[in-house]
Amino acid sequence: MIPNSKDKADSMAEMHGASVSGIPLEEPNQESQLKDRKTEVLPHRSHDPSNNLKRSDPFKFGSRYLQEDDDVFEFNAWDHVTPDESYYAYAEEQYAHQRASPVSDFDKHRFNSDPAKWWNKFYSNNTSNFFKNRKWLHQEFPILSKLTTTDAGPSTILEVGAGAGNTAFPILAANENPKLIIHACDFSSKAVDLIKANKAYDPQQIKASVWDISSDELPPDLTEESVDVVLLIFIFSALNPLQWDAAVKNVWRALRPGGEVCFRDYGRGDLTQVRFKKGRLMGERFYIRGDGTRVYFFEEKELRSIWSQNSTLSESNGFEDGKIEEPKTKEGSATGLKPDFDVVSLGVDRRMLVNRQRQLKMYRCWMQGRFKKTGNLKPD
Ligand SMILES: C[S@@+](CC[C@H](N)C(=O)[O-])C[C@H]1O[C@@H](n2cnc3c(N)ncnc32)[C@H](O)[C@@H]1O
Repeated sequence: MIPNSKDKADSMAEMHGASVSGIPLEEPNQESQLKDRKTEVLPHRSHDPSNNLKRSDPFKFGSRYLQEDDDVFEFNAWDHVTPDESYYAYAEEQYAHQRASPVSDFDKHRFNSDPAKWWNKFYSNNTSNFFKNRKWLHQEFPILSKLTTTDAGPSTILEVGAGAGNTAFPILAANENPKLIIHACDFSSKAVDLIKANKAYDPQQIKASVWDISSDELPPDLTEESVDVVLLIFIFSALNPLQWDAAVKNVWRALRPGGEVCFRDYGRGDLTQVRFKKGRLMGERFYIRGDGTRVYFFEEKELRSIWSQNSTLSESNGFEDGKIEEPKTKEGSATGLKPDFDVVSLGVDRRMLVNRQRQLKMYRCWMQGRFKKTGNLKPD
């Protein structure tokens, strides 16, 4: 069943992906796993109580396969579920409604001229409990386990769009490396205040600061090529697409050669996109939420193009109409050169969440990737 338009279930938490986000992808060896699965004896893994959502912490994702003889409403969630035709039809209908009534020019300006203001409001209204702690990080991004072992030596993680610290603090809690430093940056000063106010805030290991990823400078206390890992968890979707280039360049500058970006964000067709009503669309797949924060929904080829200079995206997606703010950093102003990343992995994570009481199916879609800094900056 598809959620009907009167459904008020899209609570603020869900709109921000807070209640359900943070789900790992199947590891790259997917094909062989699929083969194995065909020969598996039922009950399949989704029925194994050790994999049940409520029983393991962190929950091991990717193992609840919906099969023909399953009762969909037996569990809260199923992994790797491709939405059915009726969902796609409903989504297209919704997109048409959204396009027919886009955000007014007045509001475009209101929400794009000072996006940090809206995130500050958000963090004034929501405490650090709003986003769920991202406990699955080590599972999904093994480099984090490597850097947090006792004898890993001096290691630097930069988290951008760190919010209230729901990613940084779980990493710190699991950390055994006395020489690890996490730089947790956000352009919202209210978010940074929340991180600093957290009782786990230890300035020897975590430094929170205000920094805009699209600015001309690197974050405070960080020099070029000094960072081992950059974490981008649900932050890229908050940027105006016109800011992507500047953001990627800054990440590239901060990372040491061989350093890695760990990326997770919203994917096209996620229920939170489909549910947007009229007066929310600012550009193709770019919306304004009720609280004034912006959100974009990515496609795989687009992310490949953003991170890898070997790939190009020629289509315009409507941001050049002059009605959306200009990026603070002009294209190329930081270096005049293009950064170069290897896409180590990139995939779509689909999940079907089930409201068992109301017999509703909800399709979620996230993108997850790892991008490695390789060669040198090359001319545009
Ligand atoms: C959806 S929240 C994600 C918070 C956190 N990463 C998490 O997953 O819990 C997006 C965050 O990105 C921050 N943000 C948005 N635009 C930014 C920018 N240009 N530079 C730095 N941070 C930004 C917002 O203030 C907000 O804290």
